Amino acid sequence: MNRSSLVLYVFFLLLCSIAAAAGMALCQNQFLFSPGHESITAAFSQFKGTIVGDWNHYGRLFIEWQPALFRAIFFWTIIGLPLVFLIHFIAIGPKDFSHERGEVFYFSSFTRLVHWVAAIFFSLLVLTGLAVVFGKTFGGGSLIRSLRYVHVVSALVFTVDAAVLFLIWVRDMFPAPYDVKWLLILGGYLSKAKRPVPAGRFNAGQKAWFWLSTIGGGFMAWTGYQMFSFGVEAEALRLAAIIHNFLGAALVGFFIIHLYMSLFAIKGSLRSMITGFKPREEVEIMHSRYKIH
Ligand code: HEM
Repeated sequence: MNRSSLVLYVFFLLLCSIAAAAGMALCQNQFLFSPGHESITAAFSQFKGTIVGDWNHYGRLFIEWQPALFRAIFFWTIIGLPLVFLIHFIAIGPKDFSHERGEVFYFSSFTRLVHWVAAIFFSLLVLTGLAVVFGKTFGGGSLIRSLRYVHVVSALVFTVDAAVLFLIWVRDMFPAPYDVKWLLILGGYLSKAKRPVPAGRFNAGQKAWFWLSTIGGGFMAWTGYQMFSFGVEAEALRLAAIIHNFLGAALVGFFIIHLYMSLFAIKGSLRSMITGFKPREEVEIMHSRYKIH
């Protein structure tokens, strides 16, 4: 990819994000400057009141779940999963493929650029999202409020970028019959043996991550938008908050899995997202149904 297409892509992301930010600001301003909300603090109190509501329907669910259940789910996701992977790393360890039989070109430079933009802004979303969930533990206040804005801006960029990522990869991500077998043997990751694994260009786990991060990411943007803009009635707002929390936890979990798989489960696999190439041996074994061109 040449420099001008890179600049064009960044410009495109910027434009879309500014447009989305303007839309959001408009919605929020409508709320903030409606009668009875002189300050941001007053608006936030109203927001909290709207979410907690009168103990009916989703309001009741939300207030029961918010302090204990959501925090527990997030806590065990960020502690439990890395522990499981640590055990896997110690007991089984990474697979190691030789580069001697050549390499296969897997990811174009445009794909890599779009992927890394997603990686940066999604990482920001996870970190700032967790900071908001555990806000009290970090002392709350203006730091957490600022991080919430970083969360919103990152969401804008990620949503646009994830839509591009979706278009690039979608045709390789539809389920295939052999994906069931891949799931049953957990992708062959329970042993170090180099036996061919049933997977096409992408395996069942990668496909699941793709759909969750793009379509799930879209739902996160939509529910997040409702929470930020106050553009819907109270019941819908509560439901949005519940979905945002549960889906958010699933996304954080899959993100941790993705990090382990792409950084530790196969030696040097990060390189493929930097150079675009994978060792031929790795493709033949881990993606045995993929026809190498
Ligand atoms: C810092 C964070 C991230 C790192 C280090 C990372 C790394 C990688 C690597 C090395 C690969 C190639 C794996 C292979 O085929 O062997 C990959 C693929 C991929 N990444 Fe990421 N990634 C990150 C974040 C993300 C995010 C946020 C998304 C969501 C939009 C994402 C979506 C994908 C998808 C769909 C693939 C192709 C299928 C797969 O390998 O899972 N990645 N990533």
